[in-house]
Amino acid sequence: MAKTLIVYYSRKGSNWYENGIKHLEKGNTEIAAELLRKAVGGDIFEIDTVKPYADDYYACCREAEKECRSDARPAIKGFVDSISGYDLIFVCYPCWIETVPMCVFTFLEHYDLTGKLIAPLCTNEGSGMGRSEKDLRRVCAGAQMLPGLAVRGCRAASSGERIAEWAGKYVKQISIKQEAPEMIEKISVNTQSSVHIAAQQSIYFDPLQLPSEPHDADIIFITHEHGDHFSEADVKKAAKADTVYVIPAGMKGALEKAGAAEDKIVALAAGDKTEVLGVPVEAVAAYNPAKPFHPLANGWLGYIVTLEGKRIYVSGDMDATPEAKAVKCDIAVIPVGGMFTMNPQEAAELINEIKPEYAVPTHYGTIVGKPTDGADFAKLVDGSVKVKLVL
Ligand SMILES: Cc1cc2nc3c(=O)[nH]c(=O)nc-3n(C[C@H](O)[C@H](O)[C@H](O)COP(=O)(O)O)c2cc1C
Repeated sequence: MAKTLIVYYSRKGSNWYENGIKHLEKGNTEIAAELLRKAVGGDIFEIDTVKPYADDYYACCREAEKECRSDARPAIKGFVDSISGYDLIFVCYPCWIETVPMCVFTFLEHYDLTGKLIAPLCTNEGSGMGRSEKDLRRVCAGAQMLPGLAVRGCRAASSGERIAEWAGKYVKQISIKQEAPEMIEKISVNTQSSVHIAAQQSIYFDPLQLPSEPHDADIIFITHEHGDHFSEADVKKAAKADTVYVIPAGMKGALEKAGAAEDKIVALAAGDKTEVLGVPVEAVAAYNPAKPFHPLANGWLGYIVTLEGKRIYVSGDMDATPEAKAVKCDIAVIPVGGMFTMNPQEAAELINEIKPEYAVPTHYGTIVGKPTDGADFAKLVDGSVKVKLVL
């Protein structure tokens, strides 16, 4: 089955076109979607509403505005049977009242889009993408939104080259993804909680005792200020000129002292969600509820990053807190060495509750915890979760 789906909504009839009203035999978005299909192939699906919109442009605007204001989900005539086989979904629509026609949301909300790449193409007569990308992000929960393409409706027919260039890079991205190793193979831990993810971006968490000076970090995450998590020397070994640092808000001064420019620091608090160099990031509180080592009040953090559609939770030093139990992820990188964090049994209980696809135990065998803690943890984890031992 093709891995790419093009789904579009388009309306024939009277419409605003360049400088006035024109009757369109074929909708602009349909023209753009066909050019897109010509460029990238794959399957194509047209969304059609049960109740047609008015043919008159102004009457249709009134209908659209009403639907938009009430956040309506107008019924549509059909759906694609299954979208599980598609990695990349192009969503094409006309800009209506600065956003997406509500019937497109009816279609998208019908599916679990977790891990899908969504590329929006919006034809319009002056608003560009409007607020459609923001609204799509809300509707396509769990999907990764790619930067969209705005096509002036009256120029749709002559936009083939632009469309092909824009879409081509995303198609290339999924073919690279299919040939590339699984995300779990891209995660390494050189010691303690010093994690490196060699994805499209080179990402470090709490770099420590790095054996070389790679100077290749696109992003460095720091979970908290203890010396085995924030090592200025190792941050400098990983960093390059444009590295972005994601840190708990209280560590801003320490990072600036370590040479990070203020505009390269993303300071977060628990619960914050943001995007760093295109990587969705969520900050999760990391603390010991009943031990003095990592107090909640310090604002120290674990992070969930979404890379290539996989949610990876790198928890920092913590116990099985309510926040950790609420995490939904594909890969959990968690401490198991006890004393300052969970021990193997506590960590296994947490993992058996949140059930990621993979668990990677860390933080044992050197500063704290026995060398066998990882294997002991693996024995206690349910068979449905794969454990990767990297220390
Ligand atoms: C109900 C309605 C609302 C529209 N709202 C906008 C708008 O807010 N901004 C804009 O640039 N164009 C707007 N337009 C123009 C369309 O986005 C544009 O003509 C588009 O290319 C039509 O695509 P279609 O022929 O595939 O339906 C609107 C058109 C309609 C019918």
